[in-house]
Amino acid sequence: MNFFMSGQLKDNYKIKRMQDELSLLNAHILIVDDEIEIARLTKRIIESFGCVNVNTVNNWKDALNFLEKNTVDLTIMDIDLSSTVDGIDLVKMIKEKYDCAIIYLTGWFNDDVFQKAKSTYPSGYLLKPFDSNSLKAHIEIALHNQTMKQENVILKRAIIQTIVAMEKTVAMKDPYTSRHQNRVSRLAVAIGEEMGLAPDIIEGIRYAGLIHEYGKIFVPTEILSKPGKLSDVQFELIKDHPLKGYEALINIDFPWPIAEIILQHHERMDGSGYPRKLSGDDIMLEARIIAVADVVSSITSYKSYREAKPIKTALDEIETNKNPYSGEQLYDPDVVAACLKLFRENIFSF
Ligand SMILES: [Fe+2]
Repeated sequence: MNFFMSGQLKDNYKIKRMQDELSLLNAHILIVDDEIEIARLTKRIIESFGCVNVNTVNNWKDALNFLEKNTVDLTIMDIDLSSTVDGIDLVKMIKEKYDCAIIYLTGWFNDDVFQKAKSTYPSGYLLKPFDSNSLKAHIEIALHNQTMKQENVILKRAIIQTIVAMEKTVAMKDPYTSRHQNRVSRLAVAIGEEMGLAPDIIEGIRYAGLIHEYGKIFVPTEILSKPGKLSDVQFELIKDHPLKGYEALINIDFPWPIAEIILQHHERMDGSGYPRKLSGDDIMLEARIIAVADVVSSITSYKSYREAKPIKTALDEIETNKNPYSGEQLYDPDVVAACLKLFRENIFSF
């Protein structure tokens, strides 16, 4: 393998190997096996790899107790625990509460057991009797994946904190816009759920909704909160906010297409929106959802130039609004249907 590697790649490979070994040395490993001797033997083998934090328990209650009081990175789980709760049931209980990798180590495996075990997303399976090299390889892979997973969680948390900080910036400049963003985010998520969208798409909608007016921080406050009618120039400045938000966010590597959703949230199905006059399916579904939530929240919010209007006015608007020139619907009919259902069946309220 080294034969094909450049110097840089070789160095990266070495560093990765060192990190993997480091996690093997520092890992907290729990062995659950009803046979005391096998548990002890497995512990000794794992300790021979250099691990110093290896513990054993012999039944499911002790396992849960141990996890309650200690950090565990990896559990090596026997499947037949000679009790009503088998190893797979125990893993299900563990996964509800703890973030811990699992390797099944078992003397018996048939297709049913395998299918049941598979549904708990273990990192690996080993059949007894096992050889120590395969056990070591399985543990290394499990710990490596666990580290990657934890790094992803930390990274995602930092991204979400960044989005919340950006929302706070909007709140400091204009509390009304901030309130509106929070309402849009909540309603857009509810619409996404009503439409049965995948959780990851819904998460993107949540965070795009939360900062969809971010570009307004570049619009002077006097214009944002002007009580009377805006001049054409002032209106053009406000209409710039999707593009300004997009430009501010496009170089941040979000796990969701947030910048693009923000850019498109004022596009309309018949092409009458802005800034790019996109139409129909050329507008992202996420942006079509934010658009409807945006209109409903906006109509039912207090504005510097008018009082808040009742929800019925907003629902009438999205249900009937057609472009007076083309006669086409401005909003996605599926999104509108989901939104109407949420309010009319009292599934959602602001
Ligand atoms: Fe907007």
